[in-house]
This record gives sequence, C-alpha cells and structure tokens, in this order.
Amino acid sequence: MEILRIEHLTKIYGKGENEVRALDDVSFSVEKGQFVAIIGPSGSGKSTLLHILGGVDVPTSGKVFMDGKDVFTQKEEEFAIFRRRQVGLIYQFYNLIPVLNVEENMTLPILISAKDASFC
Ligand SMILES: Nc1ncnc2c1ncn2[C@@H]1O[C@H](COP(=O)(O)OP(=O)(O)OP(=O)(O)O)[C@@H](O)[C@H]1O
Ligand SMILES: [Mg+2]
Repeated sequence: MEILRIEHLTKIYGKGENEVRALDDVSFSVEKGQFVAIIGPSGSGKSTLLHILGGVDVPTSGKVFMDGKDVFTQKEEEFAIFRRRQVGLIYQFYNLIPVLNVEENMTLPILISAKDASFC
C-alpha cells in the first residue's frame, strides 16, 4: 500500500541571479512499512525535501500525498494537526527549546497533542 507519493516537486529559493533550484521535478512513492534513505552530496536538496515532507516548508510547485491526502491543500488547523500527529522530524541542527530539558523537549509534541485531543 502506498503511504507517500511525491509528484513533480520543485523548490526554488531566491530570485533572479540569487535563484537556487533546490529540488527540480522530483517524483517518487513510498510503500507503507518501507524504509527509505535519501543520499546525495551537500547542497543537493535532502533537507529541503524532508522539510517539505514534514510540512514545515512549502514547495514552489508539485504535490505531496500522504496516505492519499494532498498535504498542501489542507486547511491551516488540519495541517497543524497533520504536522503534530503524522510526522516526526529530527533536525540536522536540533532546533531544541533551550529552556526545556531533554525529556520535556521530547515529550512536548505529545503534551500539546493530548491537550488538543478534545478539540479534534
Ligand atoms: N532558506 C534557504 N534560502 C536559500 N537557499 C537555500 C535555503 N535552504 C537551502 N538553500 C539552498 O538549497 C540547496 C539545497 O540545500 P539543502 O539544505 O536542502 O541541501 P542538503 O542536501 O540538505 O545539504 P547538507 O548535506 O549539507 O545538509 C543548497 O544550494 C542551499 O544553499
Ligand atoms: Mg541537510
């Protein structure tokens, strides 16, 4: 069963002579239970792709379907819940909250999600 489908994903940062085409027409799909490693040289767009798959950045064009659902057509609230419940993202440069300890940093999304449980 297909869990993830990427269609013609393109991400362009900047404009004019500063334009960087970080992703250029990327398409692939992943089956449920499949483990995938994305490899490539520094600057080839791995983090850009993962940020888009995690919903923390948006593509310039193209589509992402997660479990059949078009990720970037979700309403803001639905999209926030999607990011919180469906995606786990470990950042290259950590992005931890400095005032929280290790356990609190790890469990924060669960606490937020539990608080919201009645609301969705
Ligand atoms: N916010 C941004 N603004 C402008 N250009 C960016 C931005 N983020 C990434 N880029 C550029 O997009 C390209 C892809 O970067 P990305 O960070 O996705 O590569 P990467 O494969 O994760 O590299 P690394 O292996 O070093 O982590 C690079 O040329 C990078 O300089
Ligand atoms: Mg990276």
